[in-house]
Amino acid sequence: MNGTITVNGSSVSIEFEPMATLLDVLRSCGHTEVKRGCSSGECGTCIVLLDGILVNSCQVLMATAVEKEVTTTSGLEKDGSPHPIHEAFADAGAVQCGYCTPGMVMATHALLADNPAPTEDEIREGLVGNLCRCTGYVKVIEGVKLAAQRMADNG
Ligand code: FES
Ligand code: FES
Repeated sequence: MNGTITVNGSSVSIEFEPMATLLDVLRSCGHTEVKRGCSSGECGTCIVLLDGILVNSCQVLMATAVEKEVTTTSGLEKDGSPHPIHEAFADAGAVQCGYCTPGMVMATHALLADNPAPTEDEIREGLVGNLCRCTGYVKVIEGVKLAAQRMADNG
């Protein structure tokens, strides 16, 4: 099969197997910032935005993503500069091995788009689909709070 998707603003034409997932295709065309954890929809490391909707890309058949727009964590950068969520996660110590971080960042982005000032419970609920084996989540929650505060301060 073949088709075109737009990834972080760039159009990509790809040939793919009928059962290939969006995650398979993203990684095979160089978007290794999208991580493979469980491949079964449970860990959230592979989260991207697909036409603005948060999805586990390991659970999306590429055939259903043709002609759609994908945003990965790299797509949140502007002019080569990190997004405030990237910076807040780094500054809060929310990144240890970093494997879960791309998915955490995308889930945080979606959460703050809907709810710019979430409570701690709302943050926990927003990240319920993202597993982290390193941080114990405390620093991640601090990172989300810091990102929310900085994004509010910057308008
Ligand atoms: S790799 Fe997709 S949810 Fe774990
Ligand atoms: S920082 Fe290592 S899995 Fe989350």
